[in-house]
Order: sequence, then C-alpha cells, then structure tokens
Amino acid sequence: MTSIMPLVAGNWKMFGLKADLVEMRQVRDKLAEGDYTPKCDIMFCPPATLLGEAHGVLQGSAVQLGGQNCHGEESGAHTGDVSAEMLKECGASAVIVGHSERRMAYQESDEIVRTKAHAAHRAGLKAIICLGESEAQRKNGETLDIITSQLKGSLPDTATQDNTIIAYEPIWAIGTGLTPTAQDIAEVHKSMRATLIGLKGQDIGAALALLYGGSVKPGNAAELMAIENVNGALVGGASLKAQDFLGIIEVYR
Ligand code: PGA
Repeated sequence: MTSIMPLVAGNWKMFGLKADLVEMRQVRDKLAEGDYTPKCDIMFCPPATLLGEAHGVLQGSAVQLGGQNCHGEESGAHTGDVSAEMLKECGASAVIVGHSERRMAYQESDEIVRTKAHAAHRAGLKAIICLGESEAQRKNGETLDIITSQLKGSLPDTATQDNTIIAYEPIWAIGTGLTPTAQDIAEVHKSMRATLIGLKGQDIGAALALLYGGSVKPGNAAELMAIENVNGALVGGASLKAQDFLGIIEVYR
C-alpha cells in the first residue's frame, strides 16, 4: 500500500485582512515548537491580496501557501484575473481549482477547471481539484456518476501524485455544519481511487492524495480523517481561527 502524506489545507475564501494574519502566525508558531510534529502537510490558501504578506509570515516554516483560483493563461487581457505564474511568484506552491463556489458563481465547467489545473502544472504549482455533488444529485442517487464525470473531465493529462490533489466536497456540506456519513464518504473516495487508477495507472492513481472537505471541525476531524482513502482535509470556516485549525491538525499527531 502506498503511503500518502496527508494534507490539511485551509481555504480562507473571501475572508481575511492583514490583521487576521495573526491566526496564521499562531499556527506557524505552534508548529515551530520542537515537540509539536504532526504527520501531515499544512497549507493556508488566503485571498490573493494577502499572499505576499502571508508568504512573509510562513517563509522558513513548514506551512505551505496556496492560491484559491487561477486563470488558465499565463498572462493576457483578463481584467481582475490572476495567473498561476503570478501566484507562484507570490510564494504559492499550490492553487485550489474548481471549488464549487466558483463552479456555481462563474459557471466553471470541468473543461475550464481542467485548463486551470493544467495552468497550475505549467507554473510549477500543485493543483487542488475540487469535486462535489449537489443535494438534489445526492437525493437522486447520482453522486458516484457525478463525481466520476467531474473527475474525468477536470483532471489534466499532466496530473501526477506530485502535482495534483483531489478534494471531494459535497456542495450541501460546505459551510452548513452537515457532513455525509463515514460510509458515504468512504464510498465516494473508493470510487475516486478506482477512477484514478483506471485513468493514470496503479503507481500514480494509488498515490494521489484525496481530501475530504465540507464542515470539517475539530469535533469531527478524527472520525472523518480515519476513513479509508481520506488523505486529509480541505477546511473552510474552521481554518480562520488558529485554535480550530490546530484542533484539526491535532488529529495527525
Ligand atoms: P467549510 O468549507 O469547511 O466552511 O464547510 C469547506 C470548503 O469550502 O473548502
């Protein structure tokens, strides 16, 4: 069995001003304590406006930095957009692509998400590709079909275990306090694993990290992170406060 280094990644979404970097500093300082050595990677994905400053906070620490979105092109006349190369220059080593909030608000299709993931690879960033079904799709029993088709459509040919992470985030579980049952998550992650092995072969498919995201909190993290084929968490709300985020990281000590 391949051993996968788990990742706990915090997605700050459109939250956070400079003053909030105090939370990031607290996490960094806790991780610098000699006896505090969780067996997982840790990442913050703050808003693009904070990347430069956050890079200064995290530089020299084990905590990684990621963006929340990128454009597919390297540069161009795309007002308001940010390229993967720009994120990289700010100190990011990864970028979230295809978050359901963007798929819904900006009609980002699997094809667009795949282009963005490819752009991440081009820039030398890890792509954290998000997938997830809606409440109606789950009720209709379509979850596995939806996730499989999103995964196949969103994964660029360039994906390997070194440059790609998949995050399963049921849309109805994001920011709602609701989570699927452990059995439901296990079923989706097993199916994603099988799809990845089918697409990329055993060596890559079995080695790609699969995150769960959607209302992960200190109180449920241990149960969620113990599920087979769950290799970490993509955390929204609970990543904004150092104590909560550390409570999730604690699971990997
Ligand atoms: P949540 O968000 O942890 O606040 O549910 C997760 C996400 O959207 O990545």
